[in-house]
Amino acid sequence: MLIRTPQEDIERVLFTREQIAARVAALGTELTRRLNGERPIMVCILKGAAFFFADLCRAMACDVDTDFLSVSSYGTAATSSGAVRLVRDLSQDVSGRRVVLVEDVIDSGLTMQYLRNLFAQRKAAEVITVSFLDKANCHPPKHAADLLGFSVGDEFLVGYGLDYAEHYRNLPDVGVLRSECYAETESV
Ligand code: PRP
Repeated sequence: MLIRTPQEDIERVLFTREQIAARVAALGTELTRRLNGERPIMVCILKGAAFFFADLCRAMACDVDTDFLSVSSYGTAATSSGAVRLVRDLSQDVSGRRVVLVEDVIDSGLTMQYLRNLFAQRKAAEVITVSFLDKANCHPPKHAADLLGFSVGDEFLVGYGLDYAEHYRNLPDVGVLRSECYAETESV
């Protein structure tokens, strides 16, 4: 729950907007190189990845198709329910297409595993996974993304799309949320 202003609820900034911009530019260049002139379907996994997705697409030098899907695994709780559910589907057929799945964070890895299976069933020609953040200690290595912005620990991070109970997404930097901000809500 928001206690002060969004900025004041941040204990410390982990990645500044400048660090984020530099890393996203590098990821855009790497993705463009990998795609080698082919037009991918860039898939934004709502809602958290929306900010990263918009910046990443603009950092790419090739033409892209964009689409959006929404899965749910967390609700508004601080911990995962363990179940992944498709809430909003794509607007197009992906069979035979190169697909780039864009996530804001990989935690347990369940969401990415579910989506990889889904796109394999739908016969995508290739699936490249990109995640802005990866909590590498929270999942087996096989659940890591193909391309990664930053590896992070198991702290409660918000900003640049990451939320707590739908707050803080529009903070331009990524920071560690003060524990009293979520402890208070959970005790209610
Ligand atoms: C978050 C995040 C990933 C997922 C990662 O989504 O955006 O989609 O959890 O967790 P996992 O690796 O343990 O599966 P969330 O359900 O919080 O929705 P949101 O993007 O709308 O915030």
